[in-house]
Order: sequence, then structure tokens, then C-alpha cells
Amino acid sequence: MAEHDMSDKEKQYFFNTPQQSLPFFLKGSNSYDWGMKNRLARIFNPDSGKTVMLAFDHGYFQGPTTGLERVDITINPLVPYADALMCTRGILRSVIDPSVQNSVVMRASGGPSILKDLSNEQIAVNVEDALRMNVSAMAVQVFVGGACETQTINNMTRLIDKCNRYGMPVLGVTAVGTELTRDARYIGLAVRILAELGAAVIKTYFVPEFETVVASCPVPVVIAGGKKLPELDALRMARNAIDAGAAGVDMGRNIFQSDAPIAMIKAVRKVVHENMSAEHAFEFYQELKNS
Ligand code: 5RP
Repeated sequence: MAEHDMSDKEKQYFFNTPQQSLPFFLKGSNSYDWGMKNRLARIFNPDSGKTVMLAFDHGYFQGPTTGLERVDITINPLVPYADALMCTRGILRSVIDPSVQNSVVMRASGGPSILKDLSNEQIAVNVEDALRMNVSAMAVQVFVGGACETQTINNMTRLIDKCNRYGMPVLGVTAVGTELTRDARYIGLAVRILAELGAAVIKTYFVPEFETVVASCPVPVVIAGGKKLPELDALRMARNAIDAGAAGVDMGRNIFQSDAPIAMIKAVRKVVHENMSAEHAFEFYQELKNS
């Protein structure tokens, strides 16, 4: 076949230029396989190293959550402004346009409703179905200190074993039971356990001294938004989390329950990707809201 290369141009081998071997941009993620890195790079923006995930998976245990009664109407307009969509397979298949360019982080554990012990979860999606939906990560809730602690850790580790066969990252979500204190000591314990057991990304709640949680976690940490706050407070929480080393937010109610959800997600992006102060991002939010 060599005779088919008829170019007159002299071949260039750049003998004096060693091939570059660049480190992967995400903390603790350099030793993964190409597919795993590529999926992570679809969730985290390689330029900023951060992500704005839009979480709207709440229905998997609490039904038609306020703001999510009609995901087609309230969430689809926000999709262009999210890096990743965190949702269940039921909502993804029934409501989300398959031509969207976002990555998908799929809720992969579930079982009990708000009427039962929430920690009694099992794996709710298999890896093959997630691959069929071109998912970029699977999310599992772990209840450290909860009634079903070992079961939920086992859910995560078994899923990681299966996901590793396909280069699928697992996002470990630290659930906080009502009986557990939300402080850096507890959150730091839970986050570290999930990372030690193989989660590629951890999602947890922002707490004071969050920098100790991030520093002692060897992989990227993103924060959940939690219950609805005034917009300025939610933006301050995002700012403080990023300043403490968080790799982004996975925010739901503070976006889709906002008075102006599109303005709010755009303001969150300013904080996460453009290093804007919470106060300036709030001004930006108000300008968009009033325009
Ligand atoms: C539920 C979840 C949610 O996705 C998560 O809590 C993010 O949503 P919010 O910002 O509304 O807290 O993991 O367990």
C-alpha cells in the first residue's frame, strides 16, 4: 500500500521533539483508562477544571418535587446552560431530547420512598443500560452512619467493579441522615471512605471548614445545593465551595426552584467557571431576571 502515499512533501518525524505526555487535568484521575478520562472530561470542563451539573433526580424517592412536576417544561429550558444532567433513566428516556450535547450523570441507586428508611437502597440501573444511554457517570448514594451503611457501601463498590470494566466513572453521593451532624468531621469521614473505596467523583454537602474535606479527598468533590436558599446565599455557598477547592456544583432546587431559573443557572456558571464573586453574580442574576 506504500505506493498509494504519492505526496511529494518530505516526511517529517520531528526527531528532536519528544512526544508530549500531558497529565490529565482532574485531581487523582491520571491513572484511569482513556474512556474513563474522556467521560470525566465531558462532565468537567477541561478549561476551568470544573462543572455545573443540574440535578433533577429528586423524584426517584420523593415523587413530583416542587419545580419538577413537569420536567419537560421546567428543566428543558435550562439544559443548554448545564455541563452535565443528573437524572434518572426514566426521565432521561421520556423527556430529555436525545440530541442534547450535555453529559449525563445517571442516578443509579434507589428503592425506598420518603415513606420508608431512605438508606435501604439498592442498585437501580445496570451498567449496560447506562452505556446504551451514553451516560458519562453513574451516581450511587452511600449512607455512612445510616441504618444500611454496609449495604449502601456494597452497592457502590459492586457498581464500581462493574463500571471499571467499561471505563464508566462512579459518582459517590454522601447522604446525610437526619440523625447525623453535618460538619466537616462527619462529611470528611464520609467523603474519604467513598474515595478510598473507588468513587471517581464525590458529591457532598458544603459545610464550614470545607477545605479540610477537599484536601483530604484524593478525587474531585462537587457540592449538592441542598434546600432552597435566597439566591445570593446560594451563590455565596457556591463561591465558598469553589474557594475551598470544590470542582463544581451539582445543584438542583436552588436553580429550578429559583424565581428565575435560567438567570440563576447562568449566575452559578459565572461563579464556577469564571471565578466571579457571589455579589457580582447576584447582580448579574438580577439584571437577567429583570430584563
Ligand atoms: C438527592 C440528590 C440530588 O441530586 C441532590 O440533592 C442535588 O439536588 P439539590 O441541589 O436540590 O440538593 O442527590 O439525593
